[in-house]
Amino acid sequence: MATTLLTNIGQLTTVDASSRVVENAAVLIENEQIAWIGCASDAPQAATVTDLSGKAVLPGWVDSHSHLIFGGDRAEEFVARMAGESYAAGGIAVTTAATRNLSNEQLTNLVATRRHEALRMGTTWMETKTGYGLEMAEEIRHAQLGRRLVDTLTFLGAHLVPANSNADEYTDLVAGQMLEAVAEHIDFVDVFCERGAFNEEQSRRVLHAAQQKNIPSKVHGNQLGHGPGVKLAVEFHSHSVDHVNYLENSDFQALAGSWSNWESTSRTGKRGTVATCLPACDLSTRQPLAPGRELLDAGIPIALASNCNPGTSYTSNMNFAVATAVLQMNLTLAEAIEAATYSGALALGVQDQVGSIEVGKRADLHVLDAPVAAHLAYRPGMNLTHSVYRAGQLVR
Ligand code: NIG
Repeated sequence: MATTLLTNIGQLTTVDASSRVVENAAVLIENEQIAWIGCASDAPQAATVTDLSGKAVLPGWVDSHSHLIFGGDRAEEFVARMAGESYAAGGIAVTTAATRNLSNEQLTNLVATRRHEALRMGTTWMETKTGYGLEMAEEIRHAQLGRRLVDTLTFLGAHLVPANSNADEYTDLVAGQMLEAVAEHIDFVDVFCERGAFNEEQSRRVLHAAQQKNIPSKVHGNQLGHGPGVKLAVEFHSHSVDHVNYLENSDFQALAGSWSNWESTSRTGKRGTVATCLPACDLSTRQPLAPGRELLDAGIPIALASNCNPGTSYTSNMNFAVATAVLQMNLTLAEAIEAATYSGALALGVQDQVGSIEVGKRADLHVLDAPVAAHLAYRPGMNLTHSVYRAGQLVR
């Protein structure tokens, strides 16, 4: 049995149920899993011993929202936005056209490179979405390719109504034949419920089709203004509603209710709708930052994710998301780390496998070039990722 002991850890942030932080810690990895956690002085023997010289260790990031399957970029649109233009969903079509021109090999290389980039910054579990295909053959191609390259795959055929298409007919295609064709490859169905994308009734049709097939859902909601996204997500027991920039009191109540209605008392057994905040996107689109503090205060779990995509958030750096959440959204460091690890896993339904450092979980560990995790926000913009373990393997 392959055993590796990581020892002389200055500060170990476990994100377990009791939010345990261990000083002078050690972690034993056995094959792919965490086998022991404790004080370095009590550590068991191992075949390999790695001395981390007082560095901080936390769980690998779980990035629960990204759009990595795309070609081209939209730098011009970004520059125009910084000069005062506002973001509109229509930009998605520019990326759809650029992606269509790529061969399978070109697109695979781009997505694999992006996934690797994120891994090197500490992201050990990553979700991504289709949604720049927007026609049968392309959405199927993206789903097949995404399935091979990321950990969780979401079908977002309902990202934008293609030009010259009838919105209701396209919605029927997504909820019918398209979903049927990609179902074997995907873990979630998502819909962009927003002005300029899909209205409440169309979104409901997509979510209903997913429910009929027993495929869990997510909703892009309340990004550009108030709207029905949050309440639809709660109604359909979606794992998450993502963006959540514009919320009314009734949205808070609906989200909080989704958790209080759940009877399970075990941490991993709980299920409601997670509110996923995307701070890099909020900055890049100059939207108000999502009310992460207020959501937490209302008892609603929030996830932090990168939303890496060429339109609204061209970064997969979760360190940046965490620093922004602390500095600008009034989260504590511990809350931000939990949102970017355990709650991200909760938003993907994989919280019993990853998202915290606990015996029996996959050994996904992020070693910082810092003595304490607080440096993530204390030294914003610095490259603090020292090394990364994914499923027990050193990958950086
Ligand atoms: O999550 N909101 C919808 N989808 C992406 C943006 C996609 C784009 O503009 O290319 C997002 O922000």
